[in-house]
Amino acid sequence: MADFKDKVVYQIYTKSFMDSNGDGLGDIPGVTMRLDYLKELGVDYIWMTPFFKSPLNDNGYDVADYTAIDPVFGTMEDVEELITQADQRGIGLMFDMVFNHTSTDHVWFQKALAGDREYQDYYIFRDGRPDTPPTNWESKFGGSAWEYVPHLGKWYLHLFDVSQADLNWDNPKVREELKDVLRFWKNKGVRGFRFDVVNLISKPPIFENDPAGDGRRFYTDGPHVHEYIHELVTDAGIEDYVTVGEMSSTTLDNCVRYSNPGEKELSMVFNFHHLKVDYKDGDKWALMPADLPALKNLFRTWQEGMQAGNGWNAVFWCNHDQPRSVSRFGDEQHYRTESAKMLAACIHLMRGTPYIYQGEELGMTNAHYTSIGQYQDVESLNYYRILLERGKSEAEALEILSRRSRDNSRTPMQWSSDENAGFSSAQPWLAPPENYKEINVRAALADGDSVFRFYQKLIQLRKQLPVISGGKIEFLYPYEPRVVVYRRFDETDELFVLCSFAGEETTLELPERAAGKTLLIGNYEAAAIRGGKITLRPYECVVLR
Ligand code: GLC
Repeated sequence: MADFKDKVVYQIYTKSFMDSNGDGLGDIPGVTMRLDYLKELGVDYIWMTPFFKSPLNDNGYDVADYTAIDPVFGTMEDVEELITQADQRGIGLMFDMVFNHTSTDHVWFQKALAGDREYQDYYIFRDGRPDTPPTNWESKFGGSAWEYVPHLGKWYLHLFDVSQADLNWDNPKVREELKDVLRFWKNKGVRGFRFDVVNLISKPPIFENDPAGDGRRFYTDGPHVHEYIHELVTDAGIEDYVTVGEMSSTTLDNCVRYSNPGEKELSMVFNFHHLKVDYKDGDKWALMPADLPALKNLFRTWQEGMQAGNGWNAVFWCNHDQPRSVSRFGDEQHYRTESAKMLAACIHLMRGTPYIYQGEELGMTNAHYTSIGQYQDVESLNYYRILLERGKSEAEALEILSRRSRDNSRTPMQWSSDENAGFSSAQPWLAPPENYKEINVRAALADGDSVFRFYQKLIQLRKQLPVISGGKIEFLYPYEPRVVVYRRFDETDELFVLCSFAGEETTLELPERAAGKTLLIGNYEAAAIRGGKITLRPYECVVLR
């Protein structure tokens, strides 16, 4: 297994990171231009979201050719140059493999549409009448998960957009094709892979209606998923690469198995349970304040559970599908830098490999769009329509989008206070929030106490203290609703991490074993410890050693 426990991964949303050629879209040479910045931050790997040939209905998660570069992002030479330049700085690249589905523009799907039986078997086609889809399953982006093709008299399955057709992994030819894709990128010098929604690849043998849900129970962590991942990874010879699987609506037991080294599946997994604690009744489109006791409980369950099963978590708050954490779990208005730092410490010191999503290290915020015309994301646009159909007013639907839309994280990286946030010389494809004038890389680098500097310090600590990457974890204070407290320990070292999610002061008894320890890192000047008690200020984090 690759060495990944003391590493930190930085996620780049290619379309929004840096535009090198003035077309308003981020591109591959733009990433190369900014490698020194990432080197200064101290990250070890870059996960880049897809830049492969694509109609870009889902910004590249609809791949039309896995081994060609979409011209809007650059050329194969640009990719090779990026790999070389990153390598020279000791940074490895992880590419994003979207293997659950392809774009309907992919030549395999086009052949299937043209009537080629061999390629129809690459996808999930079912005969049927035009008025009755094979099952009542719903697409994750809204509406039915099936689309009818009149000239074939068949339906095809798409768990995501109608232009993203699910592949048939039960067909060994499909699995061979995908191994070839991995071999191709391996030969180019890529050092790791992220696998998109990889726990959805194995569909059930029989397709049936879901009387009580949207169908996910039938295909999530499906019947052959472990076998297929193991086969993919071992046959393509990437057991020693850093690999991370995105696991949708998964379980702890499955994640232990996906990431336990003995199983030879993946290095680590993303799960999303902690990012649903503000979904009312589990509905992403129904607003509710974050349920902090639930958040704490999920952290404890997953951290201690993965430890017990010798699995490994990818730890994260943000990615290109999630609103910005500082707007969501912090207080963007009154305590932006404090909450950004607290949130960082909270996950970077847990047991797992931390992922930083571009701009998180600046404390970037949600987009705060006020009209539907500002949104671009296919899921957001679908749900805006669905919310109106469900009887919400335009203002209510916009309020929901402003909190839940994936575009909140997809706004351009804020490099400077110059026009277009220094991202592009042209108008960006998605507008940056107004606050780029204050929140940007140039300002962060000039400030010794910035969120950026705090991230840098956390990354350095991970390299210096083996207890962070290799130690055990135990959660404390289960009943303190708004404070996450845990202990990291090994035979020679011990840390106490206390993170307040409250906007006011909270006083706690200090754990006995923490007495006499001193502040290793925190987001206020000195910890307020008196007589065995500690008072945490708004969004304070204190790490004692
Ligand atoms: C994953 C990606 C998301 C994409 C979806 C379909 O959840 O992170 O951006 O839309 O898969 O590929």
